[in-house]
Amino acid sequence: MSREWFNQARFGMFIHWGVYSILARGEWVRLIERIPSSEYEALAWKFKPKNYRPEEWVELAQDAGMKYMVLTTRHHDGFSLFDSEVSDFTAPKTGAKRDLVAEYVEACKERDMKVGFYYSLLDWRYPAYFKGPKADPEGWNEFLEYVHTQVKELCTNYGKIDVLWYDGGWPWTAEDWRSAELNAMVRRLQPGILINNRSKLPEDFDTPEQRIGPPSDPNRMWETCMTMNDNWGYSAGDRNWKTVRQLIQNLVRCASGAGNYLLNVGPRADGTIPEPSVKRLRRIGAWMRVNGESIYGSERCPFRGGMVGLTTAKGNTAYLHVFRWPGREITVAYVKNKVLSARILATGQEVEVTQKGDRVFLRGLPKRPPDPYDTVIAMELDGKPEAYPFGTYVP
Ligand code: GLC
Repeated sequence: MSREWFNQARFGMFIHWGVYSILARGEWVRLIERIPSSEYEALAWKFKPKNYRPEEWVELAQDAGMKYMVLTTRHHDGFSLFDSEVSDFTAPKTGAKRDLVAEYVEACKERDMKVGFYYSLLDWRYPAYFKGPKADPEGWNEFLEYVHTQVKELCTNYGKIDVLWYDGGWPWTAEDWRSAELNAMVRRLQPGILINNRSKLPEDFDTPEQRIGPPSDPNRMWETCMTMNDNWGYSAGDRNWKTVRQLIQNLVRCASGAGNYLLNVGPRADGTIPEPSVKRLRRIGAWMRVNGESIYGSERCPFRGGMVGLTTAKGNTAYLHVFRWPGREITVAYVKNKVLSARILATGQEVEVTQKGDRVFLRGLPKRPPDPYDTVIAMELDGKPEAYPFGTYVP
């Protein structure tokens, strides 16, 4: 089932790419700089991504350990990367003269990469979007007809799609967007698809943005989406890159709450991914090749990582992610299980375990952290991890 692959995956690539990439000041540039339609639409004829090779995106994502990708098929500016009967502001009908979504889908499918489509309900080219359904019912209906048709095209013309990632529902309601009807159509056309919560209906998963916050309902699926610097779309001046350490720790934080991390790249207009992003993804990939078993299919571990980091779990294994290596000894408390053995994933070293009541002591550790970002210690337990209630009186 679709829930299963999503929970296995834990790590995906978000891609923000469109004509705004030419201006290189993020994907909101049209609205923020109040660029007139004619001026903005002319950009589409300059959007000829001569180095667009989506197979390279897929290879990079795979090298980083990512299991799915989500591409902006159309963002708020209204430019469709795909062929559409209800719009001329599309890649195939302007400079690129290619269906860029079709090529992306093909590259994913050839490499067993799950395919996601981001689609913005709102489109800044429509005055009716700004006026709303009450002030302009006729214009709104026309606008909605266009939106629903495009979603239908996306769900019809590209074979099996794994994720539909809506955005831009604000400030209107699910009733205004006729989201129930829209999503019923989507599920008819794509029976296995996962739909996010941004059509103003909860659907399959939550999408906290730029923050990591597991929902209170532990059965609810969720995915944090986050930028690698401060922008989604390519921004030439934005050098505020997160460190590899921050990115790995963010991924671990998501995995420790049984959620996914959808990490963004903003390719340049020519189709290439900026070097700082590539470099970071390759480093994360190296870490994932050694420590991936602590991430893929992770469950919440009821005892936490004490003072040194976080925990994830899978079956009878608890993974201690040590972000702050304390030296030769680590203590974790509230553990109900017997710890049968422990080993450092980075080096394979067996760790000496002592237990006193609910306290577990890992001893004989190297003085310095074997992994500069997050050293993972896998603890084999006598059953699924169980914990004593946190924060009770200590005699
Ligand atoms: C927001 C922004 C948008 C970005 C998205 C990603 O909704 O409007 O630019 O695509 O977040 O989560």
